Amino acid sequence: MQVVRSKLELKKILSSQTNKSIGFVPTMGSLHEGHLALMKKARLENDFVVASVFVNPTQFGPNEDLDAYPRDETKDIELSENAKVDLLFIPSVEEIYPRKVSAQVKAVLAVDVLDGKARPGHFDGVLTVLLKLFMLVQPDRAYFGQKDAQQVAIVQNFVSDYFLPVDIRTVETVREADGLAKSSRNVNLLEEERNEAPVIHRALLAGKDRILSGCQSEQEILGAVQEVLQDVTLKLDYLALYSYPDFKPVTDFTKPMVLAAAVKYKKARLIDNEIVLPSGGEAECYEQ
Ligand code: PAF
Repeated sequence: MQVVRSKLELKKILSSQTNKSIGFVPTMGSLHEGHLALMKKARLENDFVVASVFVNPTQFGPNEDLDAYPRDETKDIELSENAKVDLLFIPSVEEIYPRKVSAQVKAVLAVDVLDGKARPGHFDGVLTVLLKLFMLVQPDRAYFGQKDAQQVAIVQNFVSDYFLPVDIRTVETVREADGLAKSSRNVNLLEEERNEAPVIHRALLAGKDRILSGCQSEQEILGAVQEVLQDVTLKLDYLALYSYPDFKPVTDFTKPMVLAAAVKYKKARLIDNEIVLPSGGEAECYEQ
């Protein structure tokens, strides 16, 4: 595996990969099994796999955890190598943002809810860095985790609207044995928070069960989630049910929905979701 830090080096190596399909896994590092699942899928579907580790400052709000975001470059290199990544791109902030941009990317669809609402400007930063990374890597396919369901939908719409020649591929959320969604931020949980956090997924599953048993009342469905959470200390940032993948208020309970929650702990904000397909079948990922 080659570790590359500059755009120039990246370009040089990529230009020698003629006639090879390129799979790209953009990450913010602190890699865990969720990222490894993306790399595994990328490895299966492409001739050459590029991953990036870049904690993107433009997707963090002024009072968010940019400085506290976990970083472990040595481990990231080791894990990427084990996952058979061909090229790991680890640029500096200056390499990606050499100057103030002259035109901005602004997400406008599906951003008035969930993380878009709770983290103003977050998805503008995500799309900005992805546009830059897509232009640098020029991948055939790019891989995203379903844990960030809203991010996947927003990226998919962006790529589709601007005819970006990249296929967005998704991978289901990878969980700890107790159900907690794997996240780089989990290392910032206090011990008692880590013990409690699996309740988030249990609560979402209770809501999902209610939907699958035919309930068509949003209040009742969210109530079933709240009931599981009533005796715990965590602070809900949001809990909501939307149609999926367009993130609109639910009007038809027979169509796909997303039940999503964000939780604020002392030093970590966690998100999780369950996609619900009331007509049965597996909860599939968003793919076109
Ligand atoms: O999902 C993430 O880790 C980030 O939002 C991404 C897609 C790597 C962009 O910085």
